[in-house]
Amino acid sequence: MLKLIIFLMCFGVIFANNFWIVNPGPKYPPTKGEVWPKPQYQIKEKTFYIFNPSQFKVKTTNQTCSILTSAIERYSYVISNKIGRRIRKRKVRAHRRHISAEGLYKGHLNELEITLTKPCEGYPHLNMDENYNLTVSATSTLSSPSIWGVIRGLETFSQLFYLSDDRNEIRINTTQIYDFPRYKHRGLLLDTSRHFISVTNILKTLDAMAMNKMNVFHWHIVDDQSFPYKSEKFPELSNRGAFDSSMVYTKEDIERIVEYARNRGIRVIPEFDVPGHTASWGSSHPDLLTECYEGNKVVGLGPMNPTKNTTYILLRELFQEVQTWFPDRYFHVGGDEVALDCWKSNPELQEYMKNNTLTVADLHALFMRRVIPLLANNSKPIVWQEVFDEGVKLTKDTLIQVWKYNWITEMINILSAGHELLFSSTWYLDAIKSEWPDYYSPDPRQMVYDVTQNETLLPGIVGGEACMWGEMVDDRNVINRVWPRASAVAERLWSTLDDNINYKSKIPSETYYRIEEHTCRMIRRGIDAQPPTGPGFCIA
Ligand SMILES: *[C@@H]1O[C@H](CO)[C@@H](O)[C@H](O)[C@H]1NC(C)=O
Ligand SMILES: *[C@@H]1O[C@H](CO)[C@@H](O)[C@H](O)[C@H]1NC(C)=O
Ligand SMILES: *[C@@H]1O[C@H](CO)[C@@H](O)[C@H](O)[C@H]1NC(C)=O
Ligand SMILES: *[C@@H]1O[C@H](CO)[C@@H](O)[C@H](O)[C@H]1NC(C)=O
Ligand SMILES: *[C@@H]1O[C@H](CO)[C@@H](O)[C@H](O)[C@H]1NC(C)=O
Ligand SMILES: *[C@@H]1O[C@H](CO)[C@@H](O)[C@H](O)[C@H]1NC(C)=O
Ligand SMILES: *[C@@H]1O[C@H](CO)[C@@H](O)[C@H](O)[C@H]1NC(C)=O
Repeated sequence: MLKLIIFLMCFGVIFANNFWIVNPGPKYPPTKGEVWPKPQYQIKEKTFYIFNPSQFKVKTTNQTCSILTSAIERYSYVISNKIGRRIRKRKVRAHRRHISAEGLYKGHLNELEITLTKPCEGYPHLNMDENYNLTVSATSTLSSPSIWGVIRGLETFSQLFYLSDDRNEIRINTTQIYDFPRYKHRGLLLDTSRHFISVTNILKTLDAMAMNKMNVFHWHIVDDQSFPYKSEKFPELSNRGAFDSSMVYTKEDIERIVEYARNRGIRVIPEFDVPGHTASWGSSHPDLLTECYEGNKVVGLGPMNPTKNTTYILLRELFQEVQTWFPDRYFHVGGDEVALDCWKSNPELQEYMKNNTLTVADLHALFMRRVIPLLANNSKPIVWQEVFDEGVKLTKDTLIQVWKYNWITEMINILSAGHELLFSSTWYLDAIKSEWPDYYSPDPRQMVYDVTQNETLLPGIVGGEACMWGEMVDDRNVINRVWPRASAVAERLWSTLDDNINYKSKIPSETYYRIEEHTCRMIRRGIDAQPPTGPGFCIA
């Protein structure tokens, strides 16, 4: 019966789409001057200005700071050099008169006036203000009370430029934009343990994140397979635990990455996943780990040993160092996929559990309860959902990251307990068969609202993260596997939820054309993104 239905469905599709007719040209020709992620409010007009680098100035009218001056420098370069290769022809004048006869050409773009009305903040944070207003006319204006808003607005401004159809001119249409994010934590997780990712590609990733208005780089820096973090207090951890002595991140590398991110309004949150996913720590510190038994034979090492005080002493010292290198107030302590069966198999831990009437899940809880207070006093933990599931008492400012199946129920449980959460379940980029449309629709607040009809729960969902686990990505393919697939998540987290977008329904067709332009734009700016949807081309 099922086969028959599938058979009929196939034919339905074939007949409906006339599959034997193939049109030449790209499947979805890119738009021109459309913004990704889509602004909250935009009034579009058909009149346009022409951009000429020698006739254009950027002026700041009020507050300024080094983040702002370097952003202006970056975006001036992008606008002058990265909109696309022009074809210089002679007949520009006649052509222009023709256009102006239609009343659409409004002259040259003279200036962008930036008004930042409050002093710059030094480092981006969870509650940073990212709203901005942008008006494009001969003298365009960009205003925001926050440096982070100005940076988002400059990105938008740079995306509005496009080449005329004959590629003679760079144009920008008259428009008004009022914009701000829907979610305040819009992250990308990169795993640098399964494969080492070079600093160059991490910086490129940060560039791409800025183009997509993502604001948190979640650095899953170490795991079972390798320990590339080069500690100064415990150099043996990477000496023994890194894949190779060339595959490490030094203090200088980390400071450079954090500074690069800060200038783009991106936070860098380190994750040191404990007590599971720690095999590489054992290369230099086998005593940290638990001996796993089969019968009365040791068969290997498992998660960190939760009963040894030396475990916590090392973690305290290490975390202290990490937190001086990473200024963000949040720190991810992991807590996922702990091999509890190993703990169960160990005679010493069996005795410990018996003595203290603990279950093995209690042991996990005990571990997390002792680890979280090791963080600096002004800092806040992020944990994977298992830590909540196993009943660890968490402070209200702990962020819980949801990644497993049954995510709607999980989110409702977390929110009802008064906690805040990050959503990732549907945004695993290592799912090779998923393309951007698969990531585009799921909206965590909408999913929770559909089930609960309870508005008061929703603000507790502070955002989400696309997760690029590193099993099948290395330095050669990480950029094109992440982009533009993560762009779908970026738009979901930034843009307003259209009434006609529903995680159960279709994606508006304009999105397919707009992501083509966005992908070409990323490529022009040095991000080797993969084709989003099908046949097509980008002009360099
Ligand atoms: C810009 O204006 C042109 C007409 O000059 C119009 O065809 C086009 O749709 C506009 N583009 C955007 C992004 O508003
Ligand atoms: C300029 O900045 C000052 C200090 O932050 C602020 O009080 C003032 O309102 C700003 N001026 C304008 C025109 O926005
Ligand atoms: C931006 O424009 C909106 C709508 O006109 C207005 O409510 C808001 O106060 C403006 N924000 C800034 C920073 O100018
Ligand atoms: C280990 O630490 C716990 C909790 O701080 C303490 O009660 C216990 O005495 C310590 N054990 C050893 C052997 O130092
Ligand atoms: C369990 O309790 C016994 C008796 O108090 C003690 O000798 C033993 O060291 C304890 N074992 C562990 C692993 O805590
Ligand atoms: C945090 O503050 C408490 C009490 O002031 C202190 O005992 C503890 O050592 C501090 N923790 C860290 C990691 O600095
Ligand atoms: C909505 O959720 C809040 C927070 O958990 C709860 O206090 C309230 O009772 C819920 N309202 C309804 C109608 O279920």
